[in-house]
Amino acid sequence: MSLPDDTQLLYLRLASHYQGAIESGSLTPGDRMPSVRSLTRLHKVSLSTALQACHYLEDKGWLEARPRSGYFVRRPRRVSLQPNSEPEQPLQLDAAQYLGIHERVSEFIASCELYPLKTNLAQAFGSPDAYPTEALKHAATRALRSHPEVLVEPTPWHGESGFRAVLARRALDHGMRLTPDDIVVTHGCTEAVNLALRAVTQAGDTVAVESPCYFGLLQIVQSLGLRSIEIPTSPHTGMSIEALELALQTQPSIRAVVVVPNFQNPLGSVMPDAHKERLVALCAEHGKALIEDDSYSALCDAEQSLRAVQSWDTDGTVIYCASLHKTLAPGMRLGWITGGRWHARIKMLKFAQSRPNDALSQLTVGEFMASSAYDRHMTRLRNLLRERRERTAESIAAHFPAGTRLSMPRGGMLLWVQLPPIRSPHALFEQALREGIRVAPGWIFSNSSRYDNYLRINCGIQFTAEVDAAIERLAALVYEQLV
Ligand SMILES: Cc1ncc(COP(=O)(O)O)c(C=O)c1O
Repeated sequence: MSLPDDTQLLYLRLASHYQGAIESGSLTPGDRMPSVRSLTRLHKVSLSTALQACHYLEDKGWLEARPRSGYFVRRPRRVSLQPNSEPEQPLQLDAAQYLGIHERVSEFIASCELYPLKTNLAQAFGSPDAYPTEALKHAATRALRSHPEVLVEPTPWHGESGFRAVLARRALDHGMRLTPDDIVVTHGCTEAVNLALRAVTQAGDTVAVESPCYFGLLQIVQSLGLRSIEIPTSPHTGMSIEALELALQTQPSIRAVVVVPNFQNPLGSVMPDAHKERLVALCAEHGKALIEDDSYSALCDAEQSLRAVQSWDTDGTVIYCASLHKTLAPGMRLGWITGGRWHARIKMLKFAQSRPNDALSQLTVGEFMASSAYDRHMTRLRNLLRERRERTAESIAAHFPAGTRLSMPRGGMLLWVQLPPIRSPHALFEQALREGIRVAPGWIFSNSSRYDNYLRINCGIQFTAEVDAAIERLAALVYEQLV
């Protein structure tokens, strides 16, 4: 077939030709698309038109690119669940309160320990096959060879310089301009957020957090003797700027705002750029520290880089915290922080709190992240997570009762499942645990009972028949509990 080349949207016509072939079944999931070069020959179009058509079909979910193999037809998306509910309108603010999250998390852990585990859907990182195990082993061996005394020498104070340089370079992708000196290496993002909050608050102060909020952040807030105020957060666009503004106007004890703008845990929401910009301006206007937890932004399906909130900062209002725990090496506990106007204080607190991180892991990861192997790993990881997320969501859509809601994030590894009304979410969770199925229950993501009817499901592990069966069994337990 040859397409007339006098139209601007030639690539769309080419794409629709192949979309039609997939819809009619002439091309089926797993089939290889003609190569970009063959498309140019077959349809007498330019290389860039053929490429644009493939990118378009990939974006729409019809094709997937496999490294060094070309484009293949993807499994169709069949997820037909309603998206998660938006926060109630008008937006309600609870009073700032001291948290009781430790008790909730301790009970969760204690219940998990009671029963043998078969399928773990409760974590927020991938299984080992999602990470470059062999390449990291080789990089560690090379690091030991090139630094034979690394295990017995003192470690550089704020982090290994080569590692900080590569972090600064990679941060450019998220719109940040940093020097290695702007970075302190930490024990994961957990230590980074701890340091940030310690630098800007005192016991008794209030911190504005998202609702629902990653339970680890709530635990840090509680550990530091702070109160929290939960700000309504959209499953699609993140923390409500309007509600935050109201909170900042009415609650002078708020000292800091903690936000996960990209692929929020548990919602998977991504703040639009206009909201990010407004958020920074709002915190600057009110003189509040804005703590950005950016653990997930590199896991965006589209390979388009999501901008960090920090990239709009002009006066040091933003403290940026990040982690390599989700993207590269869950076993290494590496994270980092750049502290805006509190950077010097954060350096001091890190030194006082835990001293520097070990150098071997920084040398290992630094070498890997400086190479193109890191880019290849990230492309593979994003594709793998997208596929696992979609298969998990399809399984939920196939098995769970009507009234279940789920918004599909465009990246990351978490699904936030909103159940229809059931009699006892706690009994459901206990029974699932008794049968060896572990999920993260909604009530650990808030100090309220607002999310008791939710489950967070991890899709970073391989989607096997066992995972499918666990989801089917969870769904059966939900049916038993329907009111
Ligand atoms: C939003 C968020 N921040 C921080 C962390 C913890 O990061 P790290 O393991 O690097 O301490 C997690 C882990 O689940 C998370 O989801």
